[in-house]
Formats: sequence, C-alpha cells, structure tokens
Amino acid sequence: MIISPSLLSADFLNLAEDVKRFDGIDDLWLHLDIMDGHFVPNLTFGRTVIEKLPTITQHKLDAHFMVSNPEAYLESFKNYPLYNFTFHWEGVTHHDSFISRLKDIFPSVRISLKHSTPIEVIPTYLFEKIDLILIMSVNPGFGGQKFISGVIDKIEKLKILKETYNFQFEIQVDGGINERVSKVVTEAGATNLVAGSYIFSEPDKNYLKRIDSLR
Ligand code: DX5
Ligand code: ZN
Repeated sequence: MIISPSLLSADFLNLAEDVKRFDGIDDLWLHLDIMDGHFVPNLTFGRTVIEKLPTITQHKLDAHFMVSNPEAYLESFKNYPLYNFTFHWEGVTHHDSFISRLKDIFPSVRISLKHSTPIEVIPTYLFEKIDLILIMSVNPGFGGQKFISGVIDKIEKLKILKETYNFQFEIQVDGGINERVSKVVTEAGATNLVAGSYIFSEPDKNYLKRIDSLR
C-alpha cells in the first residue's frame, strides 16, 4: 500500500533533513497540504518550497490543494514538479472542464471531499475520469486531530461503486490515521493512507517503523 507522509507534521526548520529520512522507502508519496488561509484557517507552504523539494527527494509530490478556488492556481502551478493535483470538490464551479485541463498537465488528477460532503455530489460518470478520491477524515487545516469514524460509510460506498462500475480510482483517506485506524479504513476500502502526526511523532525519527505498522 502506498503511504503518504504529510509534511504538515514535519520539522519545518529542518525540512530537508526530515524529508531525506524517507529516502529509499518504497511505495511512498510525500503529501503536501497547500493551504490558503481561506478554505481552511491555516497557511502552509507554496511554490518556493515545492520547487526545491525535487532537489532533495525522488519521491512523488502528492499535492492536496486546500484552497477556495483551485482553478485560479492551475496556471501558476502548471510548471511545478507535482505528481498530482488534488482539488476540493467544494471549491470548484466547473468540475468537468477543470478535470480535463488538469489531465493535460498532471499525471494524476484527484478529487478531495471534506468529511461532511457526501460522495453523491460527484456524478457517477466523473469517477471514470479521475485517479483518486481523497476522503478527509478530520476537519481540514490541521494535523493531530482525531479520526471521524462517520467517514467509514463513505469509504465503503466508494468501494462498492468501484466494484459495480469497475472504476480504477484509488481511495485515499487523510486525517487521524494511526495503526488502529489504518486497519479499519483499509477493511472498508481505502487503498492509500495519508498520515502526518502518527509518522512524525516516532520518538527516534524512525519513520519507516511507523510506515510499516500502517501497512
Ligand atoms: C489536514 C491535512 C492532513 C494532515 C493529516 O487538513 O489535510 O494531510 O496533515 O494530519 P494527521 O495525520 O496528523 O491527522
Ligand atoms: Zn492533506
């Protein structure tokens, strides 16, 4: 299973050192929460940090745009080394055309839903066009919160949808993931996990230990 350590919980004053601790670990994306202080009440990093990351890591950059108007960020991020563009459904007006524009630029196009947004907002035909659905399982904006178990029902519904229509999208769960929650959400259908505080709080900074326990 691919695990995405969320750099929101990394040591920002020693970011390169922390990122290098993931060197040589297979099946790993680096999760970047790009926040605008509007869609979520927090700010993180932007292009100046992101453009430097590929100079110190080989891992794919898993960008989660937690912004009010992701369509406005496409132009400025199109030349940046992101593997994917995950946008929040709630922040977009013209979903279908936005997905088409993203597909021309990024290898992977993904939709995120807040924990309170039902999967039924996405019309079935659009699931065929995307590579991953991110289900938020905490209130967006901060690490270290408790997993909201109400989202399990959504994960199960997505799994059924995949099986019914033979859709290929991954189901990513983001927020409150630890070794216990990992078991519950993978049983429900999750195929990819984002974890911040659980991984980065490993006392000896042996992040592989936490990644292995999630798997
Ligand atoms: C929350 C972010 C998450 C966050 C997860 O808004 O989208 O990626 O870093 O952190 P934990 O794993 O600590 O809940
Ligand atoms: Zn995230």
